[in-house]
Amino acid sequence: MNILITGGAGFIGSAVIRYLINETKHNILNVDKLTYAGNLESLAAVANNPRYHFCQADICDKNHLIQLFNNFQPDAVMHLAAESHVDRSISSSAEFIQTNIVGTFQLLEASRHYWNSLSKEKQSLFRFHHISTDEVYGDLNNSATELFTEVTPYAPSSPYSASKASSDHLVRAWYRTYGLPVIITNCSNNYGPYHFPEKLIPLTILNAMQGKKLPVYGNGEQIRDWLYVEDHARALYVVVTKAKAGETYNIGGHNEQKNIDVVKDICSLLDELVPNKTFGITSYKELITFIPDRPGHDVRYAIDATKIKRDLNWVPQESFQSGLRKTVLWYLNNQEWVNRILTGEYQKWIQKQYQS
Ligand code: NAD
Ligand code: TYD
Repeated sequence: MNILITGGAGFIGSAVIRYLINETKHNILNVDKLTYAGNLESLAAVANNPRYHFCQADICDKNHLIQLFNNFQPDAVMHLAAESHVDRSISSSAEFIQTNIVGTFQLLEASRHYWNSLSKEKQSLFRFHHISTDEVYGDLNNSATELFTEVTPYAPSSPYSASKASSDHLVRAWYRTYGLPVIITNCSNNYGPYHFPEKLIPLTILNAMQGKKLPVYGNGEQIRDWLYVEDHARALYVVVTKAKAGETYNIGGHNEQKNIDVVKDICSLLDELVPNKTFGITSYKELITFIPDRPGHDVRYAIDATKIKRDLNWVPQESFQSGLRKTVLWYLNNQEWVNRILTGEYQKWIQKQYQS
């Protein structure tokens, strides 16, 4: 298959591309604008593979997309490009509306234009796979045992989740109205290597390593359902190759954790792995600092992943304990990646490469 992937330089997109290049024979075109969150360095291990191609492009640019579709002739699109950070969406939502809603619309239109030109057989095999989040469902009560299923009503809380919910609605409308063969997946919080250090887990690891405060919003009792990013990448591959058009799948790790427990687990791992601290503390837990809560903070997310297990035989392989240890070790061993990301050095370098 020729698979066009948007947002392939991001955290999850790069895990998907590494998986597809290493574990399958498919050809990949990575279409990414390279925002602050996009890093081609996350793809260094596969960049020289002849089955991997990259184009720096904005998904809001429909004409550029049409050109890419015509040249690459994809059999499937995996759409991951997005603005993805809730806190950024609260302080500045415009980019979220632009990329997540308008960008998805332009990508749907470019896909439809291309799909209309295909033979009937190719049309029926084509898939537009929209990668979305469980945050579209709003939140759950943290004393209840209720889970998000594929029929949970949408009730997004943040500008980020509202923009993702909007894009899900557009994707479903393009299926119902135009017959574009779409699939939607809604996944819980991912964690693992190459995660931009603004999200809870990488931020906590990096701050602790530098002896900085570990900010915990509110009382830290909020619950997230964590999934190791490589489990997600495998799930996405199963879905894009096996799911029927029009289907929706929830993806999750049955791994509910309170934020405060996640932060403490990271501190315990660092106490074990980096016992010699230079900043006058005996445990990294002393750096934990409760700060004012996020506005509209969702209390609990928890996914019922029964459907994907039943229909497509996917289950997560990584436990939270082993996945978190791997993640902490990865950050400890890849401090140069982190430094380049944080100083913006790599972004500047890569922009120059593509301009010249
Ligand atoms: P990320 O922020 O790490 O990466 C997003 C990528 O999209 C970056 O490479 C960025 O350069 C690119 N991009 C942004 N705007 C673009 C545009 N206009 N045109 C082209 N490329 C653009 O995000 P992520 O964590 O890898 O998430 C990927 C997808 O998965 C998103 O759609 C997100 O909503 C969804 N998702 C994420 C999580 C999670 O825990 N991270 C969970 C469930 C679903
Ligand atoms: P985050 O990683 O931003 O993902 P999301 O908001 O999409 O769930 O946050 C995960 C949880 O951790 C969320 O409940 C907010 C909380 N959080 C903190 O307590 N401190 C932090 O510094 C960050 C970034 C998040």
